[in-house]
Amino acid sequence: MNILGIETSCDETAAAVVQDGRIVRSNVISSQIDLHRAHGGVVPELAARAQITAIVPVIEEALRIAGLTMPEADAIAVTQGPGLAGSLLVGVNAAKALAYALDRPLIPVNHLEAHVYANWLHVPGDEELPPPEFPALCLLVSGGHTELLLLTDHARYHLLGQTLDDAAGEAFDKGARLMGLGYPGGPAIQRAAAGGDAMAFALPRAWLGESDDFSFSGLKTALLRVVEPYRLPDPGPAPVSDGPFPIHRPPTFRPDLPIADLAASFEEAIVEVLAVKTARAAKRTAAKSVLLAGGVAANRALRQRLVIEVESAFAGEPVPPVRWPRIALCTDNGAMVAGLAFHRFTPEAPRDLRVDAHPRFPVAVSRTESGSRS
Ligand code: KG4
Ligand code: ZN
Repeated sequence: MNILGIETSCDETAAAVVQDGRIVRSNVISSQIDLHRAHGGVVPELAARAQITAIVPVIEEALRIAGLTMPEADAIAVTQGPGLAGSLLVGVNAAKALAYALDRPLIPVNHLEAHVYANWLHVPGDEELPPPEFPALCLLVSGGHTELLLLTDHARYHLLGQTLDDAAGEAFDKGARLMGLGYPGGPAIQRAAAGGDAMAFALPRAWLGESDDFSFSGLKTALLRVVEPYRLPDPGPAPVSDGPFPIHRPPTFRPDLPIADLAASFEEAIVEVLAVKTARAAKRTAAKSVLLAGGVAANRALRQRLVIEVESAFAGEPVPPVRWPRIALCTDNGAMVAGLAFHRFTPEAPRDLRVDAHPRFPVAVSRTESGSRS
């Protein structure tokens, strides 16, 4: 079964074809990074406008690469939420139109659940790994969410913990802005941290006792205190935008600001808490696999540290495999949507086109004894 997946929850316009919920036959992503860079972050209005022009060519390209004609798509899947309302609507309406025109089932999916599912995808040519075993402990870290989830099945999620304030990706993005490193923040900090000393600056970690929750807002404030003394005065008024959205002027610093050490210390402060808490929860729940998902799962230091922490938490016992998707499947993509939709599809389900965008759409968690929350 070939499912066409459409994803437009934030600034990407993405479509993909996935066969039988596992084999990625195409994965096309039209990025808007250049469009938003001048503004220092995603401008929702600009994102949705650009998605309207990108969506049809992106879908056509995904079908072409997969070697399918439009009518050969067996079902249409789309991200329903969470995300930016205007952006979600572009994907949802395109998916509805296709489902109606082709008379195919329309399968709406949750963006966060789709991120987790990326760990079950296989890209032809990559080493073929067995699907992760349940119970799987997943650290979901994206621009808007940070959640520790225990999965006992593709449809059963237990929420163990989540951020009390900023998401991990948001911390990277805001931190990069404070350090003048640009957008998107995660990759910019990872690059700036290369060769830096992660011990150079003692930045705070919010351990929150034994809880599986996270907090990153204090770290951001601490970073601001470090950079402020190095900050140079703004050279006159900010440049005027030729559109309705203001131009972001990054701060500039004295050359003696040790930016590599600072970026490395900041990255380490986020990564350490994420990895230690994930490994601890994996041990406590006797997870058979440990997964990373979401855009921050692309972070090299996080991947390396998680492996080390899981090995140490399970010392003397069988160590569960630690897995993450390849980078193009960590950040927003249509393949994760098409893949998960395979498990949400029931042939007898009514053909329902009343699907709407759902900007605040939580993971459908089952709150049980397996979590620290009840
Ligand atoms: O999942 P995603 O593509 O979009 C959301 O659903 O939010 O995640 C985007 C987030 C951004 O905050 C970005 O800075 C972060 O993922 N990110 C990274 C890296 N690549 C992307 N964070 C740390 N290190 C990276 N290499
Ligand atoms: Zn995402």
